Amino acid sequence: MHFLNRNNPCWCGSGLKYKKCHYDFDQKIALYRRQGHIVPSQDMIKTQSQIHAIRESAKVNVAVLDYVAQRIKEGVTTQEIDNWVFEQTAKYHATPAPLNFEGYPKSVCTSINEVVCHGIPSPDVVLKDGDIVNVDCSTNLNGYYSDSSRMFCIGNVSPEKRKLVDVTKECMELGLKEVKPWGFLGDMAQAVNDHARANGFRVVVDIGGHGVGVEFHEDPWVSYVARKGTEMLMVPGMMFTIEPMINMGTEEVYVDEKDDWTVYTADGKPSAQWEIQVLVTEDGHEVICW
Ligand code: MF3
Ligand code: CO
Repeated sequence: MHFLNRNNPCWCGSGLKYKKCHYDFDQKIALYRRQGHIVPSQDMIKTQSQIHAIRESAKVNVAVLDYVAQRIKEGVTTQEIDNWVFEQTAKYHATPAPLNFEGYPKSVCTSINEVVCHGIPSPDVVLKDGDIVNVDCSTNLNGYYSDSSRMFCIGNVSPEKRKLVDVTKECMELGLKEVKPWGFLGDMAQAVNDHARANGFRVVVDIGGHGVGVEFHEDPWVSYVARKGTEMLMVPGMMFTIEPMINMGTEEVYVDEKDDWTVYTADGKPSAQWEIQVLVTEDGHEVICW
């Protein structure tokens, strides 16, 4: 058995003695663990220097999505969006994290209407009037990762689809309000799920969010249907995505057999998603990427 000496430097890299830094914090987490809660491991707690580097990555990701937002319109192909993302990310000396990630062939995910997520850009797919499309961007800058996505309404979108897009954004925002230290990921999830259901929509169960920052996808896996007081304890320094996928009809989804990526709603009805990357702070949260 090895005990971290209270007079040694803290594991977080602050340069302070452990007893003056994260000692009480670790004791508090240990107490929650003994009470039966799921608690984060030490490698889920970002250090100040990691947080700084991840913020820099996020600046690029936000700039790339802003660039897309200014240009996306009817008649644009999803391949053009992919080109914008690749070129703009490169301009900031960064790389798109999706490219070659577990064999993913493109720089961004573009998911239209009944596509839930992981839509692959193609020169054959043209945005048309009435489409709703999610553009999901992720950036690797100096080995640090950022991840966010936004919905875009193309031309005249039906009131039903517009409501889906708006309610999904509200779900993300209501979930965000629940992000604070010594709460649980389930508090955030229930806020998301309650609002979706109150509007007659269903939250996708099988695909969740994730820790992010030092890797593209880190633990924990993040549910948006869990109940208040369940799932992992949130502690300062944790970073994860809020990225609920909300369906107009059934929550059931399936993966394209041919490309092994594209996820569709089982009933062919539309789906929407917004994604932000959030840091748990001492007194609440900081939105790192949007
Ligand atoms: N950006 C997606 C997310 O939010 C992940 C896409 S994985 C990819 O987690 F390989 F398809 F890019
Ligand atoms: Co993500």
